[in-house]
Amino acid sequence: MDQLLIALDVESGTRALALARALDGVAGGFKIGSRLFTLEGPSLVRRLTDSGARVFLDLKFHDIPNTVAQAVESAVHTGAWMINVHASGGAAMMAAAARASRDTAARLGVPRPLVIAVTVLTSLDERTLRDVGVTRPMVDQVTALARLAKSAGLDGAVASPQETAHLRRELGPGFTIVTPGIRGASAGSAGQDDQARTQSPAEARRAGASYLVVGRPVIGAPDPRAAAEAIAQELARA
Ligand code: C5P
Repeated sequence: MDQLLIALDVESGTRALALARALDGVAGGFKIGSRLFTLEGPSLVRRLTDSGARVFLDLKFHDIPNTVAQAVESAVHTGAWMINVHASGGAAMMAAAARASRDTAARLGVPRPLVIAVTVLTSLDERTLRDVGVTRPMVDQVTALARLAKSAGLDGAVASPQETAHLRRELGPGFTIVTPGIRGASAGSAGQDDQARTQSPAEARRAGASYLVVGRPVIGAPDPRAAAEAIAQELARA
């Protein structure tokens, strides 16, 4: 299922590769975050992309435009299919990221990775936003940053389940929306883990998510392939 991205939040490259093999043909791609990347480096990303898998390299770059452009250039060399940056790095930084992905891909003769924006981390609430000087409501901040990302030439944004429908309405059909926090229905309701705001796979799809990121409901299941297949079937029916 093209829309289903599995977060490989595991402790080793060996385990990540075994999971990717077990989920071959069911997962639409795999998300590698800073833990696994810091441990295993770009060679793990390469192993996956060389095998034909789509990799969302979730490293959330946030630095001066030149440094982010260079990081994006390195990311393109790994064969990543999707990468992300923090929208709060500003329009110039995001434009530099978009340009670096386009130029590097053209130079290497490979497809350009999608570059998406992190708007407001879901671990923040309105109080902690105020602590860092943001006084407008969460939804306004998220929407403003997503708009900025779009106008800087980025392809989309990460959105919590609460924001997906709103962003889809505000940003239009061409904007890529990646939604984590998937629980319930076929994703299982046994535990929310630390996800406070969740949606079922079908709800996220109906709200307008382009891609769903699912971690523990699949990688923590006794049979990860069966768990992913159940989610894929729910998505196909939605
Ligand atoms: O295990 P679970 O399904 O909660 O995993 C969701 C994945 O999406 C994790 O890798 C988590 O870090 C990531 N994520 C998230 N919320 C965000 C952005 C990323 O849960 N806003």
